[in-house]
Amino acid sequence: MSGPGPVDPTTTEAWARLTGLAASYEPDLRTTLTPEWVDRQTLAAADLHVDLSKNLLDGDVEAALLALADQVDVTGRRDAMLAGERINVTEDRAVLHTALRLPADASLTVDGQDVVADVHEVLERVYTFAERVRSGEWTGVTGKRIETVVNIGIGGSDLGPVMAYEALEPYRQDGLSCRFISNIDPTDAGQELKGLDPETTLFIVSSKTFGTLETLTNARLCRAWLLEHLPSDVGRDDAVAQHFVAVSTALDKVADFGIDPDNAFGFWDWVGGRYSMDSAIGLSLVVAVGPERFAEMLGGFHAMDEHFRTAPPESNVPLRMGLLNVWYTDFLDAHTHAVLPYAQLLHRFPAYLQQLTMESNGKSVRWDGEAVGYDTGEVFWGEPGTNGQHAFYQLIHQGTRLVPADFIAFARPAYELTDGDVDVHELFLANFFAQTRALAFGKTADEVRAEGVAEELVAARTFPGNRPTTSIMAPELTPSVLGQLIALYEHITFVQGAVWGIDSFDQWGVELGKQLAQQLGPAVSGDADVLAEQDPSTQSLIRYYQENRG
Ligand code: F6P
Repeated sequence: MSGPGPVDPTTTEAWARLTGLAASYEPDLRTTLTPEWVDRQTLAAADLHVDLSKNLLDGDVEAALLALADQVDVTGRRDAMLAGERINVTEDRAVLHTALRLPADASLTVDGQDVVADVHEVLERVYTFAERVRSGEWTGVTGKRIETVVNIGIGGSDLGPVMAYEALEPYRQDGLSCRFISNIDPTDAGQELKGLDPETTLFIVSSKTFGTLETLTNARLCRAWLLEHLPSDVGRDDAVAQHFVAVSTALDKVADFGIDPDNAFGFWDWVGGRYSMDSAIGLSLVVAVGPERFAEMLGGFHAMDEHFRTAPPESNVPLRMGLLNVWYTDFLDAHTHAVLPYAQLLHRFPAYLQQLTMESNGKSVRWDGEAVGYDTGEVFWGEPGTNGQHAFYQLIHQGTRLVPADFIAFARPAYELTDGDVDVHELFLANFFAQTRALAFGKTADEVRAEGVAEELVAARTFPGNRPTTSIMAPELTPSVLGQLIALYEHITFVQGAVWGIDSFDQWGVELGKQLAQQLGPAVSGDADVLAEQDPSTQSLIRYYQENRG
């Protein structure tokens, strides 16, 4: 690998300082969380109001974390990314998802090409196509208006569009809905195709590589379903041309599939799959909410990009949150991180973040190929509140593990509902405020005793507190705010990867399973020779399958 490698963070003075601070760190949020501390730790980024004050942090730790960022040159790496340098070294690619949301009058030249002009040319085509579907001008092959758009894609070609489609439900056009097929489990396509009218259904095949087994299999079976269920006098080519469009970087493969190149929307190898929902991969979302709302979402992404690019380190929210995650992971032994949206509309946000964060930072070698000598990527997970409160919060409150958590909530609800005189959104938000408070301050044994609890029950009812949370609030979940939130987590992920010196933009770890699935296919279908080449456990499992398939 050419060029100097990353700084090993463990060799920095700041890492040694953090190690020392962690050894003697005894958090006591009850005494340290003063009004001054809250003021100092409450930051703004675009429309987001971010309260870091309930984290396990003091001034010394904060200073040492900022020094660490400085000593491994996070901002230098950020600037290299934004300028289009090939920071995805294992794939020799630029990392330019931020260019997807630059305004049309910006310019960014990479390898002699103005990528902003390219982005906006495709965006205009996406917008025009989406408007044709929304207005009814684009019809199915029998002349009927499109009522259902089915996005076929997986990973980054699915999770972002689904998550945003759910999040922006109040902005969807009536009479037009989206469905999403991702899994190669035939149940997925079987369920999603159920009840659909082929004459009013449009399929979008979304695949960066157009080589993904799941997506191509599902695309073929949806094509077969379409042809089988359309009136018999409809020509095959006309049907596919009118009911199938594609989004990919591999436009030659799209043409091979039989999709009209005029109905294919491209993007570029400098957009990672998990960073692609604001490219043409968002086509289903554009159809659902319209170009204007999609453009507002891009504006939100860009506002957060600008914050990340320009805000000073101490008030740079992605930098501060990414550094806190490093602190918890490498110094306070946290293994997981919960993201808990108090917004039902964000119910797919944790799933989306799982790919973003774990495919990015689940690595154990640095970008120069050296093994890391420290922990990297924590496990991200979560569910919307208050459902999570009745499921796993027990462990966060009283378990033996430290689980840092991000709480997300909005001042204005998507639906105004009352229960008698009670505003249900207020009831909901009371839970949000209560949980972060309970986690921070807990309940002492004396407080439990003061309630008259029998001594033998006191321990079980005591809450240790000092469980760290970040609270993120915004006025309302608008398209712009959604873009801001997504970009926030993209940049948090970037900051962690930069500190750890890993390439957050490749995903070699998903390849082995794909290769083995190809090799094993014949064994599953009955090839005894291939079966005999497998390890004993795999042979035994495949035999069990064969005996029980019926
Ligand atoms: O297998 C992982 C992965 O490569 C993801 O990174 C990507 O988002 C997903 O597969 C889908 O890939 P594609 O868009 O090329 O079909």
